[in-house]
Amino acid sequence: MSEIAKLEVGGKVYEFPIYTGTEDESAIDISKLRGVTEGVITIDRGYKNTGSCLSEITFLEGEKGILRYRGYSIEELAEKADFLEVAFLLIFGELPTQEQLDKFNSDIKKNSVVDDDIKKIIDAFPKSAHPMGVLSSLTSALTAFNPGAVDIDSEEDMYNSVVGILGKFPVLVAWTMRKKQGLPLDYGKKSLGYIENLLKMMFKQPNEKYIQNPIIVNALDKLLILHADHEQNCSTSTVRIVGSSHAGLFASLSAGISALWGPLHGGANQAVLEMLEGIKKDGGDTNKYMAKAKDKNDPFRLMGFGHRVYKNFDPRAKIIKKAADEVLGNLGVKDPVLDIAEGLESQALADDYFVARKLYPNVDFYSGIIYRAMGIPTDMFTVMFALGRLPGWIAQWKEMRLNNEPIGRPRQIYTGESLREFVPVEKR
Ligand code: SDX
Repeated sequence: MSEIAKLEVGGKVYEFPIYTGTEDESAIDISKLRGVTEGVITIDRGYKNTGSCLSEITFLEGEKGILRYRGYSIEELAEKADFLEVAFLLIFGELPTQEQLDKFNSDIKKNSVVDDDIKKIIDAFPKSAHPMGVLSSLTSALTAFNPGAVDIDSEEDMYNSVVGILGKFPVLVAWTMRKKQGLPLDYGKKSLGYIENLLKMMFKQPNEKYIQNPIIVNALDKLLILHADHEQNCSTSTVRIVGSSHAGLFASLSAGISALWGPLHGGANQAVLEMLEGIKKDGGDTNKYMAKAKDKNDPFRLMGFGHRVYKNFDPRAKIIKKAADEVLGNLGVKDPVLDIAEGLESQALADDYFVARKLYPNVDFYSGIIYRAMGIPTDMFTVMFALGRLPGWIAQWKEMRLNNEPIGRPRQIYTGESLREFVPVEKR
């Protein structure tokens, strides 16, 4: 491909350089477009064809269903690494040595206590509050208890902020769930591993010992790895654009949590379970819902299907589906919605509407089935997604600041009224 792109506007031809990435992706650099054309810009609703940055963190190849974190395949990482190892890789760029991993683990444990006044904020929420709204508020509140923006030029300061948020976030996740259940807010134990401690904080009943289940521990560790980053998705782009104004890390993460909440994005894992439950309640007639999904006059969408980038199987969905079979089998759980999900999947994969639009199951299609088998309430599924995505958000925020990206401020094309005179109210 030529190193330049030519664009003819108003009878003049303009040339723009082409970036080529590590995996031969190409982008036309239009940063001078408005200047050289005296005002012409591009429009790309939803940024379907527009890159926001150059990044070294995650690579997706949508047509082939490839996902790599810092060059390592998601399949290898899900099988051979643990979540904190992957968090270290995403944030610092390399897999940690044993010594680095031990220090990372221990520094995170040292930072896993949140200011007790956070409990006063949690108590102010009604039990009916959606956990994603609570989590976003608590994350933003961390700024109040940990004032002082991160000094991005200090590696030590950045490291301390990273272990600080990785230590505190699981506590906020657990407390968000227990608040809804009216259970005491538990701190867990420093002697436990990251996932074990999260599960203990979430599930320990006040009057009995919490017994860890290795099947659940391993499945949750794998799920968090699979959610850890996904290049410039909606919530990550939100974290980047909020951080581009030099707002603090916690404020940027809080914004990312709000973006993830939407049912078209991370909120889809909750919407999938609600959809499957609805189909089950309605007699399990998947044909009826397939028809609704294809009917342009029906707002119903097959939640957990389709993806902006993947036009083939989402590699994460494949791994999660296999894990769902294993976890439910090992736990001896028979969940009828899994059969409905598998039925919908096989119907959709054979249906012209879905095939023509390259709509495949995405990361959210099966994850909720595993979370439910673990005893996690449906409205907590997206909170689990946020915990998984936390290292990716941090890594992307750090890269954006270290690259001195300019403040994000898109242009627009105005289509409103032309200039008009003010009309006094008595004459309107
Ligand atoms: C995540 O970006 C990321 O990386 C996100 C994520 C991550 O890890 O961060 O992977 C996580 O958000 C996964 C996606 C979870 N969302 C859902 O499962 C919600 C259901 N899916 C859709 O809403 C949709 O597929 C999106 C939002 C995921 C993608 O939307 P696009 O890329 O804007 O595609 P589109 O809406 O333009 O759809 C193209 C066509 C349309 O039909 P036509 O107008 O061409 O006739 O496909 C149809 C759509 O109507 N379509 C669907 C559909 N998804 C797309 N039809 C029925 N059911 C669906 N799920």
